[in-house]
Amino acid sequence: MRQVSNSPLPTFVVTDPIEAARELALRLRDLVAEQPNFVLGCATGHTPISTYQQLAGLASSRAIFGGLRTFNLDEYHGLASDHPGSFESFMRRHLFAPLDLSPERTLFPRCCEGESPVQAAERFETKIQESGGIDLQLLGIGRNGHIAFNEPGSARDSRTRLVELTASTRAANAPDFPDGTPVPTGAMTMGIGTILDARRLHVLAFGVHKAEIVRRALREPASREIPASFLREHEQVELWLDDAAASSL
Ligand code: F6R
Repeated sequence: MRQVSNSPLPTFVVTDPIEAARELALRLRDLVAEQPNFVLGCATGHTPISTYQQLAGLASSRAIFGGLRTFNLDEYHGLASDHPGSFESFMRRHLFAPLDLSPERTLFPRCCEGESPVQAAERFETKIQESGGIDLQLLGIGRNGHIAFNEPGSARDSRTRLVELTASTRAANAPDFPDGTPVPTGAMTMGIGTILDARRLHVLAFGVHKAEIVRRALREPASREIPASFLREHEQVELWLDDAAASSL
């Protein structure tokens, strides 16, 4: 592992993403062992899967993570939670089932029956506050610079809300809907302000297809056009890259 010396935020580069996954899983285990009511912010997508696999594979992880609470960054709007393409199904497959976490401990921004998106968003933000706030938020970066589903144009102080997905994001996520279900056009997402409220941020980006947006997020002036650029404002943020994602720095 090496550190990028001229980056505006602590930036670590590994040869193989699995190295980062192992390191992050061990850190999380230690943090949760020290603080059993730890609140973890989870991301979906391809990038965090190896970290979840490492976490699930740690010896005694079920005992350690029994008190964990989680909040996911986002969820498709209008998609049943048990649809295989939903982020809730993704999290159950990759992390919650292996850790035996009950649904009551894992919250997603989604509407309950009869609830409007505005009410659901307020309830989600209130639940985060009632839990004491997110201790550590895992994040990926979209190729267009989005974080969670805060697409380019999202405000720095945005909060949880219903958003429309861009065509490029829907196309990128289409492989998660192999049965031909159209990728939903909307999603509920934590806002950039919600994300920046977490006490720590661990941002992951792997692969050469992330190299250009990583460069822009670190080197161009922070702006709404590159939501990931706002991550630089956080005081406890770390960026984990592989050589390919770091190749334009
Ligand atoms: C996922 C999320 C997205 C992804 C981003 C990168 O909950 O909010 O912002 O982190 O689209 O996706 P992958 O990891 O598939 O490249």
